[in-house]
Amino acid sequence: MSEIKSSDTTAPFAQVETPLLAIALAQGSALPASLTELDRAAGGVVSRAIKTGDFKGKRDETALLYPGSAKPERLLLVGMGKAGDITRNTIRRAAAVAAKRARALSAKQLAFAVAAEARNGVSARDLGQVIVEGAAQGAWTFTEMKAALPPEDVKPEVEGLTIVADAKEVKEVARGRRVGDAVAAGHRLTRYLQMLPGNVCTPGFLADRAKQLADQYGFSLTVLDRAQLQREGMGALLAVAQGSTQEPRFIVLEYRGGGDAAPVVLVGKGVTFDSGGISIKPAQNMEDMKFDMSGAAAVLGTFEVLGRLKPKVNVVGIIPSTENLPSGTAVKPGDVVKSHLGKTIEIINTDAEGRLILCDALSYLRRYKPAAVIDIATLTGAVVVALGAHAIGAMGTDEALLAEVRDAGERSGERCWPLPLWDDYRDMLKSDTADVKNSGGRGAGSITGGWFLKEFVEGYPWVHLDIAGTAYTEGDAPHQTKGPTGVGVRLFSELILKRAGA
Ligand code: BES
Ligand code: MN
Ligand code: ZN
Repeated sequence: MSEIKSSDTTAPFAQVETPLLAIALAQGSALPASLTELDRAAGGVVSRAIKTGDFKGKRDETALLYPGSAKPERLLLVGMGKAGDITRNTIRRAAAVAAKRARALSAKQLAFAVAAEARNGVSARDLGQVIVEGAAQGAWTFTEMKAALPPEDVKPEVEGLTIVADAKEVKEVARGRRVGDAVAAGHRLTRYLQMLPGNVCTPGFLADRAKQLADQYGFSLTVLDRAQLQREGMGALLAVAQGSTQEPRFIVLEYRGGGDAAPVVLVGKGVTFDSGGISIKPAQNMEDMKFDMSGAAAVLGTFEVLGRLKPKVNVVGIIPSTENLPSGTAVKPGDVVKSHLGKTIEIINTDAEGRLILCDALSYLRRYKPAAVIDIATLTGAVVVALGAHAIGAMGTDEALLAEVRDAGERSGERCWPLPLWDDYRDMLKSDTADVKNSGGRGAGSITGGWFLKEFVEGYPWVHLDIAGTAYTEGDAPHQTKGPTGVGVRLFSELILKRAGA
Protein backbone atom coordinates (compact mmCIF):
# COMPACT_ATOMS: atom_id res chain seq x y z
CA MET A 1 0.00 0.00 0.00
CA SER A 2 1.10 3.56 -0.49
CA GLU A 3 1.70 6.39 1.91
CA ILE A 4 -1.22 8.09 3.68
CA LYS A 5 -1.00 11.85 3.21
CA SER A 6 -1.45 13.61 6.53
CA SER A 7 -2.76 17.12 7.12
CA ASP A 8 -4.57 19.10 9.77
CA THR A 9 -7.54 21.38 10.14
CA THR A 10 -8.77 23.73 12.84
CA ALA A 11 -12.39 23.64 11.66
CA PRO A 12 -15.04 22.89 14.30
CA PHE A 13 -16.10 19.21 14.20
CA ALA A 14 -19.46 20.02 12.62
CA GLN A 15 -17.73 21.85 9.79
CA VAL A 16 -15.18 19.21 8.79
CA GLU A 17 -15.98 18.02 5.29
CA THR A 18 -15.05 14.37 5.27
CA PRO A 19 -16.56 10.97 4.54
CA LEU A 20 -15.62 9.89 8.06
CA LEU A 21 -14.85 11.90 11.19
CA ALA A 22 -13.59 9.71 14.02
CA ILE A 23 -13.51 11.14 17.53
CA ALA A 24 -11.72 9.32 20.31
CA LEU A 25 -13.47 9.55 23.66
CA ALA A 26 -12.85 8.45 27.21
CA GLN A 27 -15.26 6.20 29.06
CA GLY A 28 -18.23 8.12 30.56
CA SER A 29 -21.98 8.42 30.66
CA ALA A 30 -22.36 12.08 29.68
CA LEU A 31 -21.76 13.95 26.46
CA PRO A 32 -18.31 15.62 26.71
CA ALA A 33 -18.60 19.42 26.55
CA SER A 34 -16.25 19.55 23.56
CA LEU A 35 -18.89 17.68 21.53
CA THR A 36 -21.97 19.80 22.40
CA GLU A 37 -21.81 21.94 19.30
CA LEU A 38 -21.32 18.93 17.02
CA ASP A 39 -24.14 17.08 18.75
CA ARG A 40 -26.50 19.99 18.18
CA ALA A 41 -25.58 20.24 14.50
CA ALA A 42 -25.93 16.48 14.18
CA GLY A 43 -29.47 16.44 15.56
CA GLY A 44 -28.47 14.86 18.88
CA VAL A 45 -27.13 11.57 17.52
CA VAL A 46 -24.03 11.67 19.68
CA SER A 47 -25.79 12.35 22.98
CA ARG A 48 -28.36 9.67 22.16
CA ALA A 49 -25.66 7.06 21.52
CA ILE A 50 -24.16 7.91 24.88
CA LYS A 51 -27.42 8.27 26.86
CA THR A 52 -28.82 4.96 25.66
CA GLY A 53 -25.59 3.32 26.76
CA ASP A 54 -25.01 2.09 23.21
CA PHE A 55 -21.61 3.76 23.37
CA LYS A 56 -19.79 3.71 26.68
CA GLY A 57 -16.30 4.59 25.56
CA LYS A 58 -14.61 1.33 26.53
CA ARG A 59 -11.33 0.61 24.80
CA ASP A 60 -11.79 -0.35 21.12
CA GLU A 61 -15.57 0.21 21.36
CA THR A 62 -17.00 2.05 18.35
CA ALA A 63 -20.29 3.61 17.28
CA LEU A 64 -20.97 4.64 13.70
CA LEU A 65 -23.43 7.55 13.45
CA TYR A 66 -24.95 9.59 10.66
CA PRO A 67 -24.88 13.20 11.79
CA GLY A 68 -27.90 14.92 10.20
CA SER A 69 -26.96 18.29 8.79
CA ALA A 70 -23.40 18.44 10.11
CA LYS A 71 -20.71 18.39 7.42
CA PRO A 72 -19.06 14.99 8.07
CA GLU A 73 -20.88 12.24 6.19
CA ARG A 74 -20.32 9.80 9.00
CA LEU A 75 -19.20 10.03 12.61
CA LEU A 76 -17.27 7.28 14.33
CA LEU A 77 -16.99 7.41 18.11
CA VAL A 78 -13.99 5.42 19.30
CA GLY A 79 -13.62 4.43 22.95
CA MET A 80 -10.32 4.67 24.81
CA GLY A 81 -11.29 3.51 28.31
CA LYS A 82 -10.82 5.53 31.51
CA ALA A 83 -9.60 9.10 30.97
CA GLY A 84 -6.97 8.76 33.70
CA ASP A 85 -5.37 5.78 31.95
CA ILE A 86 -5.04 7.35 28.51
CA THR A 87 -1.51 7.59 27.10
CA ARG A 88 0.10 8.05 23.71
CA ASN A 89 -0.40 4.32 23.20
CA THR A 90 -4.15 4.49 23.83
CA ILE A 91 -4.50 7.30 21.32
CA ARG A 92 -2.35 5.53 18.72
CA ARG A 93 -4.54 2.47 19.12
CA ALA A 94 -7.76 4.48 18.73
CA ALA A 95 -6.42 5.98 15.50
CA ALA A 96 -5.63 2.47 14.28
CA VAL A 97 -9.16 1.27 15.11
CA ALA A 98 -10.58 4.26 13.22
CA ALA A 99 -8.38 3.76 10.16
CA LYS A 100 -9.18 0.08 10.00
CA ARG A 101 -12.87 0.99 10.05
CA ALA A 102 -12.31 3.65 7.40
CA ARG A 103 -10.96 0.99 5.10
CA ALA A 104 -13.86 -1.34 5.82
CA LEU A 105 -16.20 1.54 4.91
CA SER A 106 -14.22 2.31 1.76
CA ALA A 107 -13.64 5.83 3.03
CA LYS A 108 -10.55 7.17 1.26
CA GLN A 109 -10.28 10.08 3.64
CA LEU A 110 -10.33 9.98 7.40
CA ALA A 111 -10.52 12.89 9.83
CA PHE A 112 -9.52 12.15 13.41
CA ALA A 113 -9.76 14.05 16.68
CA VAL A 114 -9.25 13.33 20.34
CA ALA A 115 -11.92 14.90 22.54
CA ALA A 116 -10.33 17.52 24.81
CA GLU A 117 -11.67 15.70 27.88
CA ALA A 118 -9.78 12.54 26.88
CA ARG A 119 -6.30 14.02 26.37
CA ASN A 120 -4.98 13.21 29.81
CA GLY A 121 -2.02 15.52 29.31
CA VAL A 122 -0.69 14.01 26.08
CA SER A 123 1.11 16.87 24.29
CA ALA A 124 0.02 18.26 20.94
CA ARG A 125 3.23 17.08 19.35
CA ASP A 126 2.81 13.52 20.61
CA LEU A 127 -0.78 13.66 19.46
CA GLY A 128 0.26 14.47 15.89
CA GLN A 129 2.86 11.71 15.90
CA VAL A 130 0.83 8.87 17.35
CA ILE A 131 -2.34 9.57 15.35
CA VAL A 132 -0.36 9.31 12.11
CA GLU A 133 1.42 6.18 13.32
CA GLY A 134 -1.84 4.57 14.42
CA ALA A 135 -3.75 5.40 11.26
CA ALA A 136 -1.01 3.90 9.11
CA GLN A 137 -1.00 0.78 11.26
CA GLY A 138 -4.78 0.32 11.12
CA ALA A 139 -5.16 0.98 7.40
CA TRP A 140 -2.38 -1.39 6.40
CA THR A 141 -3.07 -3.92 3.65
CA PHE A 142 -1.05 -6.23 1.49
CA THR A 143 -2.58 -6.91 -1.90
CA GLU A 144 0.60 -6.59 -3.92
CA MET A 145 0.73 -10.27 -4.82
CA LYS A 146 -2.91 -10.89 -5.65
CA ALA A 147 -3.47 -11.21 -9.37
CA ALA A 148 -7.25 -11.17 -9.19
CA LEU A 149 -8.99 -9.75 -6.13
CA PRO A 150 -12.58 -10.95 -5.67
CA PRO A 151 -14.87 -7.92 -6.12
CA GLU A 152 -15.95 -7.89 -2.45
CA ASP A 153 -12.30 -7.46 -1.44
CA VAL A 154 -11.62 -4.56 -3.77
CA LYS A 155 -11.48 -1.75 -1.23
CA PRO A 156 -9.81 1.57 -1.88
CA GLU A 157 -6.88 2.42 0.32
CA VAL A 158 -7.07 5.20 2.89
CA GLU A 159 -5.31 8.04 1.09
CA GLY A 160 -5.57 10.92 3.47
CA LEU A 161 -5.70 11.59 7.20
CA THR A 162 -6.70 14.98 8.60
CA ILE A 163 -6.12 15.67 12.26
CA VAL A 164 -8.68 18.03 13.73
CA ALA A 165 -6.83 20.26 16.17
CA ASP A 166 -7.17 23.38 18.21
CA ALA A 167 -5.84 26.54 16.54
CA LYS A 168 -3.44 27.04 19.47
CA GLU A 169 -1.97 23.58 19.02
CA VAL A 170 -1.98 22.96 15.32
CA LYS A 171 1.65 23.95 14.78
CA GLU A 172 2.85 21.45 17.36
CA VAL A 173 0.53 18.81 15.93
CA ALA A 174 2.12 19.38 12.53
CA ARG A 175 5.60 18.94 14.03
CA GLY A 176 4.50 15.64 15.49
CA ARG A 177 2.94 14.64 12.19
CA ARG A 178 6.28 15.00 10.48
CA VAL A 179 7.81 12.45 12.84
CA GLY A 180 4.72 10.26 12.54
CA ASP A 181 4.88 10.33 8.73
CA ALA A 182 8.49 9.13 8.81
CA VAL A 183 7.87 6.41 11.38
CA ALA A 184 4.80 5.27 9.44
CA ALA A 185 6.89 5.02 6.27
CA GLY A 186 9.49 2.90 8.05
CA HIS A 187 6.79 0.78 9.59
CA ARG A 188 5.19 0.24 6.18
CA LEU A 189 8.47 -0.82 4.61
CA THR A 190 9.07 -3.26 7.46
CA ARG A 191 5.64 -4.86 7.23
CA TYR A 192 5.92 -5.12 3.47
CA LEU A 193 9.27 -6.90 3.66
CA GLN A 194 7.98 -9.18 6.40
CA MET A 195 4.94 -10.11 4.37
CA LEU A 196 6.86 -11.02 1.21
CA PRO A 197 7.29 -14.79 0.86
CA GLY A 198 10.61 -16.57 1.12
CA ASN A 199 10.88 -17.17 -2.61
CA VAL A 200 10.82 -13.42 -3.23
CA CYS A 201 12.41 -11.98 -0.11
CA THR A 202 15.77 -13.76 -0.23
CA PRO A 203 19.05 -12.53 1.29
CA GLY A 204 19.85 -10.99 -2.09
CA PHE A 205 16.50 -9.22 -2.12
CA LEU A 206 17.17 -7.70 1.32
CA ALA A 207 20.56 -6.52 0.10
CA ASP A 208 18.92 -4.91 -2.96
CA ARG A 209 16.41 -3.14 -0.74
CA ALA A 210 19.26 -1.90 1.46
CA LYS A 211 20.97 -0.61 -1.69
CA GLN A 212 17.82 1.27 -2.64
CA LEU A 213 17.77 2.93 0.79
CA ALA A 214 21.46 3.74 0.56
CA ASP A 215 21.01 5.32 -2.88
CA GLN A 216 17.93 7.25 -1.86
CA TYR A 217 19.25 8.67 1.40
CA GLY A 218 23.01 8.61 1.00
CA PHE A 219 23.86 5.89 3.50
CA SER A 220 27.06 3.95 2.99
CA LEU A 221 26.53 0.30 2.28
CA THR A 222 28.69 -2.79 2.48
CA VAL A 223 27.40 -6.17 1.34
CA LEU A 224 29.47 -9.32 1.83
CA ASP A 225 28.78 -12.47 -0.19
CA ARG A 226 29.67 -16.07 0.56
CA ALA A 227 33.29 -15.80 -0.57
CA GLN A 228 33.83 -12.61 1.43
CA LEU A 229 32.25 -14.17 4.50
CA GLN A 230 34.73 -17.01 4.18
CA ARG A 231 37.59 -14.51 4.11
CA GLU A 232 36.13 -12.75 7.16
CA GLY A 233 35.96 -16.09 9.00
CA MET A 234 32.24 -16.02 9.69
CA GLY A 235 32.03 -19.77 10.21
CA ALA A 236 28.78 -19.69 12.17
CA LEU A 237 26.80 -17.71 9.60
CA LEU A 238 28.31 -19.83 6.80
CA ALA A 239 27.33 -23.04 8.58
CA VAL A 240 23.67 -21.99 8.46
CA ALA A 241 23.96 -20.86 4.83
CA GLN A 242 25.68 -24.01 3.55
CA GLY A 243 22.41 -25.93 3.14
CA SER A 244 20.93 -23.44 0.70
CA THR A 245 21.63 -22.55 -2.90
CA GLN A 246 20.60 -18.98 -2.09
CA GLU A 247 23.76 -17.01 -1.34
CA PRO A 248 23.94 -15.49 2.13
CA ARG A 249 24.40 -11.76 2.49
CA PHE A 250 25.93 -9.74 5.29
CA ILE A 251 24.53 -6.24 4.97
CA VAL A 252 25.97 -3.14 6.68
CA LEU A 253 24.22 0.24 6.40
CA GLU A 254 25.80 3.34 7.93
CA TYR A 255 23.98 6.56 8.65
CA ARG A 256 26.12 9.48 9.75
CA GLY A 257 24.28 12.40 11.29
CA GLY A 258 26.29 12.74 14.47
CA GLY A 259 29.81 13.70 13.46
CA ASP A 260 32.46 11.68 15.28
CA ALA A 261 30.17 10.30 17.98
CA ALA A 262 30.24 6.56 18.66
CA PRO A 263 27.34 4.91 16.80
CA VAL A 264 24.33 2.98 17.94
CA VAL A 265 24.50 -0.38 16.17
CA LEU A 266 21.29 -2.23 15.33
CA VAL A 267 21.58 -5.89 14.36
CA GLY A 268 18.61 -7.65 12.76
CA LYS A 269 18.19 -11.38 12.24
CA GLY A 270 17.59 -11.92 8.55
CA VAL A 271 16.69 -15.59 8.13
CA THR A 272 14.49 -15.29 5.04
CA PHE A 273 13.09 -18.75 5.62
CA ASP A 274 13.66 -20.99 8.63
CA SER A 275 12.75 -24.63 7.93
CA GLY A 276 14.84 -25.69 10.92
CA GLY A 277 17.42 -27.30 8.63
CA ILE A 278 18.29 -30.94 9.35
CA SER A 279 16.55 -30.48 12.74
CA ILE A 280 13.49 -29.80 10.63
CA LYS A 281 10.38 -28.12 11.96
CA PRO A 282 6.90 -29.68 11.80
CA ALA A 283 4.89 -28.76 8.67
CA GLN A 284 2.12 -27.04 10.64
CA ASN A 285 2.51 -23.25 10.33
CA MET A 286 5.98 -23.63 8.84
CA GLU A 287 4.95 -21.01 6.26
CA ASP A 288 5.11 -18.43 9.08
CA MET A 289 8.87 -18.89 9.10
CA LYS A 290 9.04 -16.44 6.21
CA PHE A 291 8.71 -13.95 9.09
CA ASP A 292 12.09 -15.04 10.47
CA MET A 293 13.64 -11.96 8.87
CA SER A 294 11.47 -9.59 10.93
CA GLY A 295 14.47 -8.25 12.85
CA ALA A 296 16.21 -7.43 9.58
CA ALA A 297 13.04 -5.77 8.31
CA ALA A 298 12.85 -3.65 11.46
CA VAL A 299 16.42 -2.45 10.94
CA LEU A 300 15.69 -1.51 7.31
CA GLY A 301 12.48 0.25 8.36
CA THR A 302 14.43 2.21 10.95
CA PHE A 303 16.83 3.38 8.23
CA GLU A 304 13.85 4.63 6.24
CA VAL A 305 12.96 6.74 9.30
CA LEU A 306 16.57 7.96 9.63
CA GLY A 307 16.70 8.89 5.96
CA ARG A 308 13.57 10.98 6.26
CA LEU A 309 14.27 12.70 9.57
CA LYS A 310 18.07 12.94 9.49
CA PRO A 311 18.56 13.12 13.28
CA LYS A 312 21.91 14.15 14.74
CA VAL A 313 23.22 10.71 15.62
CA ASN A 314 25.27 7.92 14.06
CA VAL A 315 23.61 4.58 13.43
CA VAL A 316 24.99 1.38 11.90
CA GLY A 317 22.55 -1.30 10.78
CA ILE A 318 23.80 -4.86 10.38
CA ILE A 319 21.83 -7.67 8.80
CA PRO A 320 23.25 -11.18 8.58
CA SER A 321 20.94 -12.92 6.14
CA THR A 322 20.52 -16.48 4.94
CA GLU A 323 17.99 -19.24 4.49
CA ASN A 324 17.98 -22.23 6.84
CA LEU A 325 17.31 -25.34 4.76
CA PRO A 326 18.07 -29.07 4.90
CA SER A 327 20.06 -30.56 2.04
CA GLY A 328 23.01 -32.81 1.31
CA THR A 329 25.33 -29.94 2.07
CA ALA A 330 23.50 -28.70 5.17
CA VAL A 331 25.15 -28.46 8.57
CA LYS A 332 24.37 -31.44 10.83
CA PRO A 333 23.70 -31.81 14.54
CA GLY A 334 27.04 -32.42 16.24
CA ASP A 335 29.04 -30.41 13.69
CA VAL A 336 31.57 -28.01 15.21
CA VAL A 337 32.23 -24.66 13.54
CA LYS A 338 34.48 -21.71 14.28
CA SER A 339 32.86 -18.34 14.82
CA HIS A 340 34.17 -14.96 13.69
CA LEU A 341 35.25 -14.26 17.27
CA GLY A 342 37.27 -17.48 17.29
CA LYS A 343 35.18 -19.46 19.76
CA THR A 344 34.10 -22.89 18.55
CA ILE A 345 30.45 -23.87 18.53
CA GLU A 346 28.90 -27.31 18.64
CA ILE A 347 25.70 -27.19 16.63
CA ILE A 348 23.37 -29.39 18.66
CA ASN A 349 20.26 -28.22 16.88
CA THR A 350 20.31 -26.73 13.40
CA ASP A 351 17.02 -24.98 14.20
CA ALA A 352 18.85 -22.73 16.68
CA GLU A 353 20.27 -20.87 13.67
CA GLY A 354 19.41 -17.30 14.57
CA ARG A 355 22.02 -17.13 17.30
CA LEU A 356 24.60 -18.55 14.89
CA ILE A 357 24.19 -15.80 12.33
CA LEU A 358 23.94 -13.10 15.02
CA CYS A 359 27.03 -14.14 16.91
CA ASP A 360 29.28 -13.47 13.92
CA ALA A 361 27.68 -10.04 13.53
CA LEU A 362 28.21 -9.28 17.23
CA SER A 363 31.96 -9.78 16.94
CA TYR A 364 32.27 -8.16 13.47
CA LEU A 365 30.71 -4.92 14.71
CA ARG A 366 33.40 -4.28 17.34
CA ARG A 367 35.23 -2.29 14.63
CA TYR A 368 32.63 0.46 15.00
CA LYS A 369 33.45 0.96 18.70
CA PRO A 370 29.71 1.21 19.38
CA ALA A 371 28.12 3.38 22.05
CA ALA A 372 25.37 0.78 22.22
CA VAL A 373 24.41 -2.41 20.41
CA ILE A 374 20.85 -3.69 20.18
CA ASP A 375 20.02 -6.87 18.34
CA ILE A 376 16.49 -7.75 17.32
CA ALA A 377 15.53 -11.28 16.39
CA THR A 378 12.69 -13.78 16.14
CA LEU A 379 14.97 -15.99 18.19
CA THR A 380 12.97 -18.44 20.31
CA GLY A 381 9.59 -20.10 20.47
CA ALA A 382 10.10 -20.01 24.23
CA VAL A 383 9.56 -16.25 24.36
CA VAL A 384 6.09 -16.82 22.92
CA VAL A 385 5.39 -19.17 25.80
CA ALA A 386 6.80 -16.74 28.38
CA LEU A 387 5.37 -13.43 27.18
CA GLY A 388 2.88 -14.17 24.41
CA ALA A 389 2.17 -11.45 21.87
CA HIS A 390 2.30 -8.49 24.24
CA ALA A 391 5.93 -8.06 25.15
CA ILE A 392 9.35 -8.29 23.61
CA GLY A 393 11.79 -10.36 25.67
CA ALA A 394 14.74 -8.14 26.63
CA MET A 395 18.14 -9.22 27.94
CA GLY A 396 21.52 -7.59 28.09
CA THR A 397 24.76 -6.69 29.74
CA ASP A 398 24.06 -3.06 30.61
CA GLU A 399 21.34 -1.92 32.97
CA ALA A 400 21.33 1.67 31.71
CA LEU A 401 20.88 0.61 28.09
CA LEU A 402 18.23 -1.90 29.13
CA ALA A 403 16.34 0.89 30.93
CA GLU A 404 16.66 3.15 27.89
CA VAL A 405 15.31 0.43 25.60
CA ARG A 406 12.42 -0.32 27.94
CA ASP A 407 11.57 3.37 28.17
CA ALA A 408 11.50 3.65 24.37
CA GLY A 409 9.34 0.52 24.38
CA GLU A 410 6.81 2.15 26.72
CA ARG A 411 6.63 5.32 24.65
CA SER A 412 6.30 3.45 21.37
CA GLY A 413 3.83 0.87 22.63
CA GLU A 414 6.32 -1.88 21.81
CA ARG A 415 6.87 -2.96 25.36
CA CYS A 416 9.83 -4.97 26.56
CA TRP A 417 10.06 -7.21 29.58
CA PRO A 418 13.37 -8.32 31.09
CA LEU A 419 14.62 -11.88 31.46
CA PRO A 420 17.68 -12.60 33.61
CA LEU A 421 21.06 -13.52 32.15
CA TRP A 422 22.36 -14.92 35.43
CA ASP A 423 25.62 -16.85 35.39
CA ASP A 424 23.75 -19.97 36.53
CA TYR A 425 22.21 -20.36 33.09
CA ARG A 426 25.60 -20.47 31.36
CA ASP A 427 26.14 -24.11 32.36
CA MET A 428 23.29 -25.15 30.09
CA LEU A 429 25.45 -24.26 27.07
CA LYS A 430 28.48 -26.35 28.05
CA SER A 431 29.65 -28.54 25.18
CA ASP A 432 31.68 -31.76 25.29
CA THR A 433 33.55 -30.89 22.12
CA ALA A 434 33.53 -27.12 21.65
CA ASP A 435 33.63 -23.86 23.61
CA VAL A 436 29.87 -23.57 23.59
CA LYS A 437 26.85 -25.39 22.15
CA ASN A 438 24.03 -23.65 20.36
CA SER A 439 21.13 -25.12 22.29
CA GLY A 440 20.53 -25.43 26.00
CA GLY A 441 17.60 -27.82 25.81
CA ARG A 442 14.03 -27.21 26.87
CA GLY A 443 14.22 -25.05 29.98
CA ALA A 444 14.73 -21.27 29.89
CA GLY A 445 14.93 -21.33 26.09
CA SER A 446 14.90 -17.55 25.60
CA ILE A 447 17.52 -16.99 28.27
CA THR A 448 19.92 -19.61 26.93
CA GLY A 449 19.44 -18.02 23.49
CA GLY A 450 20.40 -14.68 25.02
CA TRP A 451 23.31 -16.26 26.90
CA PHE A 452 24.66 -17.78 23.73
CA LEU A 453 24.76 -14.30 22.16
CA LYS A 454 26.35 -12.84 25.28
CA GLU A 455 29.28 -15.22 24.75
CA PHE A 456 30.15 -13.14 21.70
CA VAL A 457 29.66 -9.66 23.18
CA GLU A 458 32.92 -7.94 24.01
CA GLY A 459 33.54 -4.32 24.81
CA TYR A 460 30.22 -2.52 24.35
CA PRO A 461 26.85 -2.17 26.11
CA TRP A 462 24.42 -4.66 24.60
CA VAL A 463 20.74 -5.49 24.65
CA HIS A 464 19.05 -8.42 22.90
CA LEU A 465 15.39 -8.21 21.89
CA ASP A 466 13.53 -11.45 21.22
CA ILE A 467 10.53 -10.61 19.01
CA ALA A 468 9.38 -14.14 18.15
CA GLY A 469 6.06 -13.44 19.92
CA THR A 470 5.51 -9.90 18.68
CA ALA A 471 6.68 -9.86 15.05
CA TYR A 472 3.43 -11.14 13.60
CA THR A 473 -0.08 -11.87 14.79
CA GLU A 474 -2.16 -14.93 14.09
CA GLY A 475 -5.54 -13.23 14.37
CA ASP A 476 -7.22 -9.92 13.75
CA ALA A 477 -7.53 -7.43 16.63
CA PRO A 478 -9.60 -4.22 16.41
CA HIS A 479 -6.45 -2.16 15.82
CA GLN A 480 -4.36 -4.73 13.96
CA THR A 481 -4.57 -6.82 10.81
CA LYS A 482 -3.49 -10.46 10.84
CA GLY A 483 0.13 -10.79 9.80
CA PRO A 484 3.27 -8.72 10.31
CA THR A 485 3.34 -6.01 12.97
CA GLY A 486 6.50 -4.11 12.01
CA VAL A 487 7.62 -4.39 15.63
CA GLY A 488 10.90 -2.65 16.41
CA VAL A 489 10.62 0.32 14.07
CA ARG A 490 8.73 2.50 16.51
CA LEU A 491 10.88 1.41 19.43
CA PHE A 492 14.15 2.11 17.59
CA SER A 493 12.83 5.41 16.27
CA GLU A 494 11.89 6.59 19.77
CA LEU A 495 15.23 5.53 21.17
CA ILE A 496 17.30 7.11 18.42
CA LEU A 497 15.33 10.36 18.25
CA LYS A 498 15.64 10.74 22.00
CA ARG A 499 19.40 10.17 21.79
CA ALA A 500 19.57 12.78 19.03
CA GLY A 501 17.65 15.22 21.21
CA ALA A 502 15.03 15.54 18.49
N1 BES B 1 12.89 -18.78 14.20
C1 BES B 1 12.79 -19.65 15.30
C2 BES B 1 12.06 -19.04 16.48
C3 BES B 1 10.58 -18.76 16.29
C4 BES B 1 9.65 -19.64 16.78
C5 BES B 1 10.16 -17.57 15.72
C6 BES B 1 8.30 -19.35 16.64
C7 BES B 1 8.82 -17.29 15.58
C8 BES B 1 7.89 -18.18 16.06
C9 BES B 1 14.19 -20.03 15.78
O1 BES B 1 15.16 -20.09 14.81
C10 BES B 1 14.09 -21.39 16.39
O2 BES B 1 13.76 -22.29 15.68
N2 BES B 1 14.39 -21.50 17.67
C11 BES B 1 14.37 -22.74 18.36
C12 BES B 1 15.57 -22.81 19.26
C13 BES B 1 15.77 -24.17 19.89
C14 BES B 1 16.07 -25.21 18.82
C15 BES B 1 16.90 -24.07 20.87
C16 BES B 1 13.07 -22.82 19.13
O3 BES B 1 12.63 -21.82 19.67
O4 BES B 1 12.49 -23.90 19.17
MN1 MN C 1 15.16 -21.97 13.83
ZN1 ZN D 1 14.84 -18.88 13.17
